[in-house]
Amino acid sequence: MILSDDFIAELKEKNDISEIISQYVDIQRKGRNMMGLCPFHAERTPSFCVYPASGSFYCFGCGAGGDVITFLRLIEHYDYLEAVKSLCERCGMNFSVSDEENELHKKKLLIYEINRESARFYYKCLLSEKGKNARDYLKNRGINSSTITHFGLGYSPNNRFSLVDYLKKRGYNEKDIILSNLAFKSQNMRELDRFYDRLMFPIIDVRGNVIAFGARTLSGKQPKYLNTSDTLVFKKSNNLFALNFAAKSSEKYIILAEGYMDVIALHQAGFTNAVATLGTSLTNSQVKIISRNCSEVMLAYDSDSPGQKASQRAISLLKANGLKVKIISIPHFKDPDEFLRSAGENASIKFEGLIKNSKNDLEYQLSDLKSKCNISTSEGKVKYLTEGAKILANSASEVEREIYSMVMSSEIGVRKSTVLIQVEKYIKQNSYKIKSKEMKNILKLTAAKSDEVNKQKQSNLRAALAEESLIACIINNRGLANTIISKVSSDLFVTEFNRKVFDSIKDIISKGKNPEISSLSCYEFSFKEIGRITKIVCSYDKTMGREECIAEYIKILEDENKKKKFQELSDIPANEIKLYIENLKGT
Ligand code: GTP
Ligand code: MN
Repeated sequence: MILSDDFIAELKEKNDISEIISQYVDIQRKGRNMMGLCPFHAERTPSFCVYPASGSFYCFGCGAGGDVITFLRLIEHYDYLEAVKSLCERCGMNFSVSDEENELHKKKLLIYEINRESARFYYKCLLSEKGKNARDYLKNRGINSSTITHFGLGYSPNNRFSLVDYLKKRGYNEKDIILSNLAFKSQNMRELDRFYDRLMFPIIDVRGNVIAFGARTLSGKQPKYLNTSDTLVFKKSNNLFALNFAAKSSEKYIILAEGYMDVIALHQAGFTNAVATLGTSLTNSQVKIISRNCSEVMLAYDSDSPGQKASQRAISLLKANGLKVKIISIPHFKDPDEFLRSAGENASIKFEGLIKNSKNDLEYQLSDLKSKCNISTSEGKVKYLTEGAKILANSASEVEREIYSMVMSSEIGVRKSTVLIQVEKYIKQNSYKIKSKEMKNILKLTAAKSDEVNKQKQSNLRAALAEESLIACIINNRGLANTIISKVSSDLFVTEFNRKVFDSIKDIISKGKNPEISSLSCYEFSFKEIGRITKIVCSYDKTMGREECIAEYIKILEDENKKKKFQELSDIPANEIKLYIENLKGT
């Protein structure tokens, strides 16, 4: 790591971890620390802890942890330098790194620049003679010119070289254009444009960078939509279309639609809080991004049967992440775009009406079920009652169960208690299922896999705890660090993970640097491992650093090593013991 200790220390000093984390997580003070719901996994009771004194965080639920830099890397999907840079920007520090480290960062900046340049090119083409067809197409779809400018829509001409030639003329090299996924090499080694004769939708991140493109065919050529593949700056499953605008909306909910055109039509009608997934079904990281921006989602998926299936899936995913969900149903039309187009002048008012009539997830599931059962027949009633009771048992609160049992009972003409009895039956079954699943999980956890990060910890508990105490002392107490390092050799460490941590810290200290969690990032530790190290570091208290305690940890390690040697010895067949002893004498 070429960034100096002093630089990182100053950066951390100027960026208070609790202040930064509280922009993403609602954290409450608990004594010296702060607790909240972990943003990295779904949970209902807080197990996410921020330690302002040591500038670190740790989640007791999922094991994520680290310093403020690690936090930004995890939550914003930044790389190390991006995280450092954003902290510098926040506190007005100058950011300068070595060329070596700067390389990747520079490449990313270059891709942003090429993307932006290309978006300009596509936009110009749309407005030029070549773009007439595309302009007509947009006009037919009711998209006006200020919407075109607002979204920076464009047209990629029907020629395999137009963008490549344009970019090359402006001094960009072929390799970088390919790296941006805007072109690829053909068999005869000439670069070809990836997008041609398509309507272009720039995808822009919340920081305003053009990170990718979506492209719709204008000629009926398959595929209908084509996206930029993943690049250094873009991952389809981690981004949402129009989030750059929606993040600025003051609404407390986000409208989630399926397609680019739906979102554009919604924004044009004034619903600037609409976003869409990028041609994938909703992913967990997209849900995480949404939950950072709002607490409620209005689903406006297509009204066809794939759209409804996708809604069901989205509902569970969103709810599992603690979001409130409502479902907008779009009568008589395939999707929001078609609805809005047909509504003409009154589009906003009519869609506002749909929002008002949106159903919560239970109402939606029950009415979806009802439409599939013919409840004028006895058979249909039975099906509606049993399946509906399952829905209530699975996802309704007690109050909701009361209310919807009543609704169902009047719909099919049975007593409310009949519905409730059925619901109770499924709740019991569920709780049995959950219990046996939990039991299985507990068994699994306590078996071999009980410690994912330090696999040898369980079978060497005494040694591992002593090792962890030594590590905590070294990192927390610079004065002790040298004493411990001079007394303890890394051979004394029994578990490999802790030994690697110890060796890395020693390496850092030998270079005259401070052994901090952030400086461990360059020793190939995973985020989980960094989380573990943070936990170890946070468990430090001053009594651990007393001389007699240190002596005790070292003694434990010596003992455990002896035990191990003895164990090895007892594993040696009798006829080889002599040889073994000879060897020992030799060394
Ligand atoms: P329009 O016909 O332009 O109104 O598109 P639509 O949004 O109504 O189309 P559809 O419902 O078929 O698709 C919804 C979204 O899925 C689109 O906006 C795309 O993001 C994505 N999608 C559709 N077709 C394709 C495809 O062929 N490939 C990929 N990668 N994505 C697609
Ligand atoms: Mn459509």
